[in-house]
Amino acid sequence: MASKLLFFLIASVLVAYYIYKPLPDNVEEKWKVMMLDATFRSLGDVAYLAELFGIKHYMEVLMLLTHAEHTEPTSDENITVTDTSFNNVPVRLYIPKKQTDALRRAVIYIHGGGWCLGSPAMKPYDLLTRQTAQQLNAVVVSIDYRLAPKFRFPTQFDDVYAVVKFFLDKDILAQYYVDPNRVSIAGDSAGGNLAAAAAQQLLNDPGVKVKLKIQALIYPVLQDLDLNTPSYQDNGNMPILSKSLMVRFWNEYFATDRALAEAMHSNRHIPSEAGHLFKFVNWSRLLPENLKNRHIYVKPEYGRSHFVTKYPGLLDTRACPLLSEDDQLKGLPLTYVLTCMYDVLRDDGFMYASRLKKAGVQVVHAHYDNTFHGILLMNAWPFDLSIAHQISNKYMHWLDENL
Ligand SMILES: *[C@@H]1O[C@H](CO)[C@@H](O)[C@H](O)[C@H]1NC(C)=O
Ligand SMILES: *[C@@H]1O[C@H](CO)[C@@H](O)[C@H](O)[C@H]1NC(C)=O
Repeated sequence: MASKLLFFLIASVLVAYYIYKPLPDNVEEKWKVMMLDATFRSLGDVAYLAELFGIKHYMEVLMLLTHAEHTEPTSDENITVTDTSFNNVPVRLYIPKKQTDALRRAVIYIHGGGWCLGSPAMKPYDLLTRQTAQQLNAVVVSIDYRLAPKFRFPTQFDDVYAVVKFFLDKDILAQYYVDPNRVSIAGDSAGGNLAAAAAQQLLNDPGVKVKLKIQALIYPVLQDLDLNTPSYQDNGNMPILSKSLMVRFWNEYFATDRALAEAMHSNRHIPSEAGHLFKFVNWSRLLPENLKNRHIYVKPEYGRSHFVTKYPGLLDTRACPLLSEDDQLKGLPLTYVLTCMYDVLRDDGFMYASRLKKAGVQVVHAHYDNTFHGILLMNAWPFDLSIAHQISNKYMHWLDENL
């Protein structure tokens, strides 16, 4: 009996130790956040072990969550949902049933997951895109691009761009009763990266006549040059997206190369030949004072040339939209940037907003100082946080007013 009690006590202490994590004071629903963080962390630990013992690739284990949250395309009284393909790339399509005389608006949506995970069919994404279609009475095209590690850069970008190009055609838009002057691209995290990259590419594509009205970038990834910005330093262990997971995602996008991952961890993966690009991610210049916090700017140390020779994607603007010249940013559509305080990617968003404004682009920056990366996905049981609904409602309200 006594030994059972002792066992129970020890087990409880271990569980509490694993789950308990000090969170910043202003984060709401702390216990729920800790539970969901512990869930993600345990999945990460299982993935680590599975990889260590050669059972499965790390990302294959994390993909279990994407599979577990899979939903079938389910129409409701207001929206017809179908899985189809545009230009041979699978998409999930949401079409409002309501008949209106006026043409509809449209949102091209790109899900997140570090180019390795996620799908439009995942419950949280299905909810978000369905709500967008419902609240805006808009057609939503949610892109099911191919993922790493099976497919590397630029496959993800190419898939997204193939859909964007297909859809931004006057005849196709007419077929869906969409107003060619009211189309937006939107994405979160790695999806925000792909959205930003596609929006830039469109500026140089004479083959596409229809212009985007809006790009909405939700806590986007925008650069791999400096992985030691104040937000990387301050939020490396915050819920959902740790610094090491983000480094891992970057690494998987280009290769599964341990040496590259180690170089990225120590921020020594860019050679002196590419030194001129550091000005585009110079947070000393591009961040507001309060976010620099106590940090003093040091330029990343130069690394060997070997990595960028082997993986030129590291410096490619289709992977790092923040590395584009000022001239390339001019002409981008009205931009909505959403950032979260406790997110390694926060400063990517701030720096892009700052550079876009300087280039004369209209920017609306929604910054939330009490939450973390991936918050919009916390919209469904069992990870249902009230702040996720508040932020998502505000985003959709803004989109409704401006698109
Ligand atoms: C359909 O639209 C009506 C009117 O906007 C709304 O009240 C209802 O909840 C919607 N149904 C679903 C399943 O979202
Ligand atoms: C970064 O910006 C600061 C302040 O404007 C400047 O002193 C520094 O030389 C810049 N460094 C790089 C690498 O661009």
